[in-house]
Amino acid sequence: MRSSNIRWQNGDIDREKRKVLLNQKSACLWFTGLSGSGKSTLARSVEKALYEMGQLSYVLDGDNVRHGLNGDLGFSDEDRKENIRRIGEVSKLFVDAGLLTLTAFISPFRADRKAVRNMLEQGQFIEVYVNCPLDICEQRDVKGLYAKARKNEISAFTGISSPYEAPENPEIRVNTGEKNLEESTKIIINYLKENHIIEMK
Ligand code: ADX
Repeated sequence: MRSSNIRWQNGDIDREKRKVLLNQKSACLWFTGLSGSGKSTLARSVEKALYEMGQLSYVLDGDNVRHGLNGDLGFSDEDRKENIRRIGEVSKLFVDAGLLTLTAFISPFRADRKAVRNMLEQGQFIEVYVNCPLDICEQRDVKGLYAKARKNEISAFTGISSPYEAPENPEIRVNTGEKNLEESTKIIINYLKENHIIEMK
């Protein structure tokens, strides 16, 4: 850390008090998976379901965050690591603010995801593996990026010329190659209910 002579400051209002005020729990749902696996679509769908249940959530999404906060970062291993570190820190703040925080980043490296897990308190980090086979993501190619990557027009593209390290023990695993959006959303909402992260208001 470059800054010195700084101390963590707390006010009278803490997460517990905000929890009572908002009448909900906070946690981070960390969606990880290949480009085109459906992370953002699923996170948005879960956000909508939560909204309808009276639960406040917020989606942090790779394509959006890279326009602003992380606009200075590219796709080298180092930049991806920094991308995930910053999102981890932002998620920690959002969780402290009292929100259900949904993040949708490829986050290809196990060590980087683990570092975020360690930033948060026990039980606050819920890893959601959005599992969709590469050939299906490539067939869909919603953004046309796989075709470009195959032609070497994009370097270090995840799944093609840069690795994706699948989670070994994710809290939730959703096979988006087999399940539709509604079914996939339900798997996540059910997990949140079964683990008492959301209670019906
Ligand atoms: S991460 O690896 O650092 O977690 P992030 O989720 O922020 O990636 O961004 C991924 C998105 O950036 C992809 O969905 C895709 O639209 C775009 N993208 C552009 N170049 C690449 C690349 N080389 N590898 C992967 N995704 C890329």
